[in-house]
Amino acid sequence: MSSRAQSNPHASLPEAVAARLADRGATDRWQHVRSVADTVEEIGTRGDWPKTVVEATVRAAWYHDALKADSVDDWLRWIAAVDQEPDSWAATEAPKLLHAHAAAAWAVIEWSERDEEVLTAVQHHPTSHPDWGTVGWLLYVADFCEPLRDHSEKIDTASLIVLAGQGPAGLERAAARVLNHRVQWMVQRGRAVHPLSLAALAARSEA
Ligand SMILES: [Fe+2]
Ligand SMILES: [Fe+2]
Repeated sequence: MSSRAQSNPHASLPEAVAARLADRGATDRWQHVRSVADTVEEIGTRGDWPKTVVEATVRAAWYHDALKADSVDDWLRWIAAVDQEPDSWAATEAPKLLHAHAAAAWAVIEWSERDEEVLTAVQHHPTSHPDWGTVGWLLYVADFCEPLRDHSEKIDTASLIVLAGQGPAGLERAAARVLNHRVQWMVQRGRAVHPLSLAALAARSEA
């Protein structure tokens, strides 16, 4: 292993994710993942977040949908491989959500990822989590606001990116708006809302 590879063990992560998604015919998903990583960088730079926080969240962005084109059975195998149980709510109500937990398992197994903030951000990126710190909420906002999303003009996600880039208070407000949008959509479509999203909403309204 070269000294460069040792100094940054994740240097080949973007290429590996691109190849993984391309192998499964999911080039659009790769464009989204890259756009999320770019959006994290943009928010992180505007908000003057510590370099370590931005780097950790960019890493979470590369991981977050890396397994999205795999099957539910594959996701369950990755989760079992780290000796964890799949979220029973997701398994019953919305198995698609399991791509997130599987991606966190993949990060542990394939990339020796040990940063708990990164892992919980990846694992819960579709729902959010009431105990998240900056990495989780930064990924959550970037995942929803990246400019290739179909809803980006309608929701004016560019202004949410600017808001999120205004440091901790701005990120907090942008995250609350994204959480509200996502929960409203679920309710309008008659879909059940994940308990973690409801807990995150409740935690914000108590704050
Ligand atoms: Fe996802
Ligand atoms: Fe995503």
